[in-house]
Amino acid sequence: MAHESVYTPNSGIEKWLDERLPIIRLGVDFMAMPTPRNLNYWWTFGGILFFFLMVQIITGIILAMHYIPHESMAFDSVEHIVRDVNWGDMLQNMHSNGASFFFIAVYIHILRGMYYGSYKAPREMLWILGVIIYVLMMASGFLGYVLPWGQMSLWGATVITNLFSAIPFVGGAITELLWGGYAVGQPTLNRFFSLHYLMPLILFAFVGLHIWALHVVGSNNPDGIEIKLKEDSLPFHSYFSMKDAFAMVLFAMIYVYFVFFMPDYMGHPDNYVRANPMVTPPHIVPEWYFLPFYAILRAIPDKLFGVIFMFAAIAIVAFLPWLDTSRVRSMRYRPTAKLFFWGFVATGLLLGYLGAKPAEGGYVIASRILTAYWFLYFIVALPLLGWTQKTKTLPGSITEAVLGKDAMKNNK
Ligand code: HEM
Repeated sequence: MAHESVYTPNSGIEKWLDERLPIIRLGVDFMAMPTPRNLNYWWTFGGILFFFLMVQIITGIILAMHYIPHESMAFDSVEHIVRDVNWGDMLQNMHSNGASFFFIAVYIHILRGMYYGSYKAPREMLWILGVIIYVLMMASGFLGYVLPWGQMSLWGATVITNLFSAIPFVGGAITELLWGGYAVGQPTLNRFFSLHYLMPLILFAFVGLHIWALHVVGSNNPDGIEIKLKEDSLPFHSYFSMKDAFAMVLFAMIYVYFVFFMPDYMGHPDNYVRANPMVTPPHIVPEWYFLPFYAILRAIPDKLFGVIFMFAAIAIVAFLPWLDTSRVRSMRYRPTAKLFFWGFVATGLLLGYLGAKPAEGGYVIASRILTAYWFLYFIVALPLLGWTQKTKTLPGSITEAVLGKDAMKNNK
């Protein structure tokens, strides 16, 4: 814990427990964490993510009570949940839309970190844990999408598992291990169900480490400067806990709107058709949150290199703390880097658009240019900008950033 403990056991039993398992101390100290007073609403997405993790786990456990991981029954069991199980349609819509909103929140959370330089020392470990969480989220999303056993489940799984076959020597064996046979079928569905259930629990453990790491180093903030003065920070509870709760309610309102009024908006129509190994859909597309990486995969003409570039596009994010050489964290004070950052955001969005288009003609060329930008941003723009860019003057303290220089002088 980065700050001094504020907890004093009040009763005999609390003292007894505190000497054996200081769990109340841990909770109280977490709530009292000195938090920079200048945090904006982009800092509420960590809490929102935790909310969605819980929504996914709770709705998932209930869905699993009615779901049957069998080739000939999976599709019908989902229909049964939606039509016959009490509150089943709501639960199923909460889970499928919950996955999408979880990803919307995580993309905002990651981009917030990139904009304000939250990955920089001493928060590298926090960042790397975040990237691991993101990869686990992708694995959960992919495994879960296979379970309803619709056309896109089957064919998406076929395309993605086949990618592993491009790995030299061991590729074929890995693919067969994933399938549990010689094609996506019953054993695949069974193991995907087992792993889909396991994944969020591992995710939960990593989120625990993520939050632990956060409490060791403390939150970064929009100005990217450390807490120096006493008045630079406020206790997490109730100042930020209430702000987080407010943002969570607002975000949940949008989510609930989708769940009740447009539950199928983010789904693919083909996945409402039972899986058929004899009929390939005209365009196989993954869930929207994988589309930028799918575009990168298809931008590269060679299968093995496509796979390498796709995984590298994610892995490179973990190296950001070392690729960004600037000593100033926040893009607020780095005008040129800010332009490149927005270029990166536009690149991600456009790649997402291209991932949903057929891999032909101009779409492929555009995907190649944008893939180049994606990588050059990390390995050329950020290191060079860090060394050469002239940054704006940083405020002397967080309080000065909030109140302005004059107010600081008058206070003295
Ligand atoms: C289930 C997913 C996740 C959960 C529940 C989660 C939770 C949190 C929470 C509660 C915070 C503190 C509040 C805030 O700053 O918003 C936080 C901060 C942070 N998270 Fe996450 N996170 C998740 C995923 C990620 C991912 C994927 C990354 C990056 C790849 C990441 C990177 C960070 C960083 C760098 C901070 C510190 C930000 C700062 O202080 O400026 N997190 N996270």
